[in-house]
Amino acid sequence: MKAARRGDLWWKTAVVYCLDVEKYLDWNDDGIGDFEGLAHRLDHLAELGVSCLWLMPFQPSPRRDDGYDITDFQAVDPRYGSLGDLVEVIRMARDRGIRVIIDFVMNHTSDRHPWFRDARRSRDSRYRDYYVWRDEPPAHQEPVVFPGEETSMWELDERTGQYYVHSFYRHQPDLNIANPAVRDEIATTLGFWLQLGVSGFRVDAVPFLIEAPTGVDIGDPHEFLRDLRRYLERRSDDAILLGEVNLPYPGQLEFFGRPGDPAELTMQFDFRAMQRMYLSLVREDARPLAEALAARPDLRIEAQYANFVRNHDELTLDQLTDAEREEVFEALAPDPDQRIYGRGIARRLPPMVDGDPRRVALAYSLLFALPGTPVLFYGEEIGMGENPELGGRMTVRSPMQWSSERNGGFSRADSRRLVAKPPRGGYAPEHVNVESQLHDPDSLLATIRGFAHRYRSTPEIGWGRFEVLDQPVRSVLAHRITGEDGQFVAVHNLGPEPARVPLALGPDPADSRLSDLFDLTTLPVDDRGRVEVEVGAYGYRWFRRVTSEDRRLT
Ligand code: NOJ
Ligand code: CA
Repeated sequence: MKAARRGDLWWKTAVVYCLDVEKYLDWNDDGIGDFEGLAHRLDHLAELGVSCLWLMPFQPSPRRDDGYDITDFQAVDPRYGSLGDLVEVIRMARDRGIRVIIDFVMNHTSDRHPWFRDARRSRDSRYRDYYVWRDEPPAHQEPVVFPGEETSMWELDERTGQYYVHSFYRHQPDLNIANPAVRDEIATTLGFWLQLGVSGFRVDAVPFLIEAPTGVDIGDPHEFLRDLRRYLERRSDDAILLGEVNLPYPGQLEFFGRPGDPAELTMQFDFRAMQRMYLSLVREDARPLAEALAARPDLRIEAQYANFVRNHDELTLDQLTDAEREEVFEALAPDPDQRIYGRGIARRLPPMVDGDPRRVALAYSLLFALPGTPVLFYGEEIGMGENPELGGRMTVRSPMQWSSERNGGFSRADSRRLVAKPPRGGYAPEHVNVESQLHDPDSLLATIRGFAHRYRSTPEIGWGRFEVLDQPVRSVLAHRITGEDGQFVAVHNLGPEPARVPLALGPDPADSRLSDLFDLTTLPVDDRGRVEVEVGAYGYRWFRRVTSEDRRLT
């Protein structure tokens, strides 16, 4: 058991980094990021402390939804390179201790996928049943996912006179997973990528995949997910399913599979804690976040929450109440143009907190110190801002900023040919780029590297039992995570005044002290287990509780 705990379940202590190849580094000067460029930046990721790379979709696609609209599930878009180039990246990443997971987007295809093109030729097409058709849209319709961009989930196909369902854009027809042939395609596709060396999948839009309101009877939808998991486990001994399930905790628990029931997803993003973290930051009150974390249900041993500050989509606040969301909007996205779909924010963190380096570092400290596995979105490690000119959800998907050179060092192509432009103004590459932070010990890059490295040497954060520690200061979150290796204690101050908090850690282990993980100081814990911690304005402290018996290096 011990060995398994330390080594086997790699995702429990991973540092995940999400990027879009197209936006990362252009090596052949055509204005489009490519696998060769990514290969040249794997050392950046390794030095940062990344141990798992999540690649956003790179398959052939008309990119009307930035690649989440695929026309061939088992290929690489030639603009980014070849399958061979991808395999090189997977292998080179492995050499650096980095696993690669990829987006798995089989809720739908692009409407230009050969299956759909054929399916809409006639009602007798052999691919007709790959999709879901109806003579009339249902009387009751679910709200659309992209309000303002779509008005219904059902679209009339003029030629064959029937409606097809699309949970997302109308150019993304949903696949019919009740059809065994579609399930076979899914299995073959997963098997294909596993064989090429990926370590798992970020499963797009899981609730839509298994339970879209298509009216199609697939029996118990969770049985499909269990099946997928069983298949994955037959094909690979350590691949994961990291699911996108934006639901409150009880709903998510169903997608993990309850302890004792057959397993479904290995990991899920904690959308709830993410949203409550912003509410806490805005209120300078740690309680909304603490309440969310305390309400997480117990999971099966190998399951895990993935924490994040923002992902590639709108920063959704859909799990807050209307009043709470309004509060966050007013503070962080005062201009209605910075909001999207009535529920989210199209900005990155640093501009939202007026560039205050303390508050930026605080949020990333939380990302790495909260129980679970941290997930970074490319550019967060240097504090990139968004480019509002890209519009909608694309604002945060501007090219990676490597240097102060032309196009931020992303590409040597003429700037008119770039797949997307970097922002102008204070967050332009002249001001925010990797190169200028690389050798600056006070940079955000250095700070985040410090978090990642400390996280990796503190496996209890990924494995341990979480508790909020009682203390009297509202702006402070004090928490402890207890694992086999010991106790990790962190104190975060979301307020603008320094704080001094008394903590009751209990007498066990006796004769212990708190050793600061970022400097050489230690704090005495008295024989009743009490200690006082000082934390600066918008500050954070990470500790390990050590005794004279401890053999770990701090
Ligand atoms: C969720 C993805 O995160 C989003 O970017 C995409 O538009 C939809 N799923 C549809 O694939
Ligand atoms: Ca290129």
